[in-house]
Amino acid sequence: MNRTNTVVLAGASGFIGTYLRHRFEKDGWTVRTIGRRATAGTAEAANWNDDGAITRVLDGADLLVNLAGRSVNCRYGARNKAAILDSRVSTTTALGRALAVCKAPPSAWLNASTGTIYRHADDRPQTESDGEPGTGFSVVVARAWEAALDSATAPGTRKIALRIAIVLGPGGGTLRPFAALARLGLGGHMGAGSQKFSWIHVEDLYRTVRFLHARTDISGPVNVASPDVVDNRELMRLVRRAYGARLGIPTPSWLLRLGAVLIRTETELVLKSRWVQPQKLLDAGYIFREPELGRALLTIAKGTA
Ligand SMILES: NC(=O)c1ccc[n+]([C@@H]2O[C@H](COP(=O)([O-])OP(=O)(O)OC[C@H]3O[C@@H](n4cnc5c(N)ncnc54)[C@H](OP(=O)(O)O)[C@@H]3O)[C@@H](O)[C@H]2O)c1
Repeated sequence: MNRTNTVVLAGASGFIGTYLRHRFEKDGWTVRTIGRRATAGTAEAANWNDDGAITRVLDGADLLVNLAGRSVNCRYGARNKAAILDSRVSTTTALGRALAVCKAPPSAWLNASTGTIYRHADDRPQTESDGEPGTGFSVVVARAWEAALDSATAPGTRKIALRIAIVLGPGGGTLRPFAALARLGLGGHMGAGSQKFSWIHVEDLYRTVRFLHARTDISGPVNVASPDVVDNRELMRLVRRAYGARLGIPTPSWLLRLGAVLIRTETELVLKSRWVQPQKLLDAGYIFREPELGRALLTIAKGTA
């Protein structure tokens, strides 16, 4: 008898979740979800406020991928900070509670985390084994998120924290604001321009999830980033090329800070130097589908990615 694999996606309605859902279904998997909008728990969907329904959705599934978390694209005031932290820690903790009482839990639990857990690095790449933790609010969130995963008692389930770099994909993903600036002729380098940009194409994120599910020898944190790390100057050159913008006026840090206040966001996305090295994936022989930033940007801009 043919048995289809089942994945549970938590936080499935967002940018990454929508893509993963589509790809899993295309590859013949059954997708169940956990999210804020599910009404009465069904076999396919559970709400965060119903532990029993979460356990039922997880029971008998092969893989759990948790992407839930309030968007970080906002000003870091006290209320937003509390929501950003709580939405990650409480969902991860709820999954741990549910897995502990599952009769047939999934063999692997891949929980989103972030490459921002590492320090501002422009001197050397940060690997899973020798990367140094950073400071500041995003790092506090990342560490609490991973601690919630670590402390979950889930016998029979391999746990992996996905330290995801900035995700690019159809529609631009997190790159959207960069492309919008380039179109306005403002796509020059930002701040010093020497800060590193770590990224991953969403198709490689999907393939990484499948790869890590199959590789039963891998657990713990995994850096999910392309090895093709560039500095902001090169990033903006490639963005301008992809979007056909000839003019690229640079933006100094002070102007970025002012602009961020006006559009209710933070400058960390563009000014922090992220140098995330996917050492575990490379050592395990993972082959990137979109290894080069320039090519990835061209296909995204043309709408063929
Ligand atoms: N995109 C990136 O570049 C990137 C990089 C590193 C890490 N990550 C992490 O990867 C995860 C997915 O990213 P994404 O870009 O797909 O984010 P997204 O588009 O903002 O989606 C996140 C999902 O989390 C759920 N969610 C939102 N607010 C919530 C709350 N208050 N409580 C519980 N769940 C909530 C929602 O799913 P439901 O509507 O189904 O509940 C939402 O669709 C996030 O945790 C993010 O921090 C993303």
